[in-house]
Amino acid sequence: MIHDLQQLFFVTGRPQISVTRKEAAFRMSWKAYIVGFFLLGIFSLSVIFQFSSKWIGVGRKELLDASVMPSKGLKREATETCKTKKKGKGIWTVNSSGRLGNQMGQFATLYALAKLNGYEAYLQQETFNWLAPIFKISLPVIHKDVVGKIPWKYHWVHDWMSKDYEQIEGKHVMITGYPCSWTFYHHIREEILQEFTFHDFIKDEVNKYLGQVRGTRKNATFVGVHVRRGDYVHVMPNTWKGVVADKAYLEKAMDYFRNKYQEPIFVVTSNGIQWCKENIDASRGDVYFSGDGVESSPGKDFALLAHCNHIIMTVGTFGYWAGYLAGGETIYLTNFTLPESEFLKLFHYDAAFLPEWKGIPADLSPLLQQPKPQS
Ligand SMILES: *[C@@H]1O[C@H](CO)[C@@H](O)[C@H](O)[C@H]1NC(C)=O
Ligand SMILES: *[C@@H]1O[C@H](CO)[C@@H](O)[C@H](O)[C@H]1NC(C)=O
Ligand SMILES: *[C@@H]1O[C@H](CO)[C@@H](O)[C@H](O)[C@H]1NC(C)=O
Repeated sequence: MIHDLQQLFFVTGRPQISVTRKEAAFRMSWKAYIVGFFLLGIFSLSVIFQFSSKWIGVGRKELLDASVMPSKGLKREATETCKTKKKGKGIWTVNSSGRLGNQMGQFATLYALAKLNGYEAYLQQETFNWLAPIFKISLPVIHKDVVGKIPWKYHWVHDWMSKDYEQIEGKHVMITGYPCSWTFYHHIREEILQEFTFHDFIKDEVNKYLGQVRGTRKNATFVGVHVRRGDYVHVMPNTWKGVVADKAYLEKAMDYFRNKYQEPIFVVTSNGIQWCKENIDASRGDVYFSGDGVESSPGKDFALLAHCNHIIMTVGTFGYWAGYLAGGETIYLTNFTLPESEFLKLFHYDAAFLPEWKGIPADLSPLLQQPKPQS
């Protein structure tokens, strides 16, 4: 049972990698000794025969680039990372706005863009206050007195990566906007996931809860369901000519997992849990209405979702990040606005959801039946 749990949870699973690496390193140490000796010899030879500062310069640059390579990575990732320029320290940060999902998006975008442009990323206190209670993040924080004294160059970014963002000038840049798209940081996914590692006490609490939910099931698959309600219920139709997820969407998404897995368990969190209880059929005994829906301290609900194997999200960055961290299959609501919606100027479906995630188109008929809102 404990073994099963460990396999399920990517966070608990991750440290095992480092243990294996350490053991491997130990076993390899005698080989390393010989190789080191060899390298020393080669190095001495090069110093004697190639005492050219240019040549040494190239070697050193390669060494620097190698040190920032992600530990695991595809070829494409490695190439991207090699673009990292070293321009000196500077201070880059990101404006803090919105709640957890937005804060995570801003963090990851800052992390990736600062790295790509060769500057150091710092957090503002507010970003830190959102993220640090939940994750073991490593970026330094700028004191608020210092924030007020730095002559910031504000750089607004739209919510998808573009070529210009590889060449942002300035030692003191504050990224602004609501960036969250994977297109900014997916090439350094491992580093971003490392930053978003949950504190141990959170992992323990969640594992305990999910263990209880599992009960005596032998072959359970956890599916986290995030149903974004709250302000979106009004904002989507009134401001964005869009909809939020309805009952039929959730049924389709849940049936997908019911057909695919032997014993799916749906863990539902929402900032509108009453609506969920009225609209999600729990009669099969595989649905658990969980979490507390508290928007000001969303860590617990978020951790619960992210520890599931797969995610059903609806709209919003909170569900997006749960899917990104869970790392299994993610089902999302797509085409949830009318084609003429202003929302589409800020939000591109293909930049918002990973290509391998599965989109279920929204039913827009409620929007078409309504008289057009007065503007
Ligand atoms: C930073 O975010 C806050 C909160 O959303 C907003 O009021 C402010 O205008 C933003 N600052 C900049 C420079 O974009
Ligand atoms: C567990 O369930 C999966 C599908 O959810 C199935 O492929 C697998 O064979 C099952 N394993 C056992 C031991 O029943
Ligand atoms: C969303 O709408 C676009 C344009 O109307 C269409 O091409 C696309 O297939 C739709 N996506 C899905 C998943 O139905």
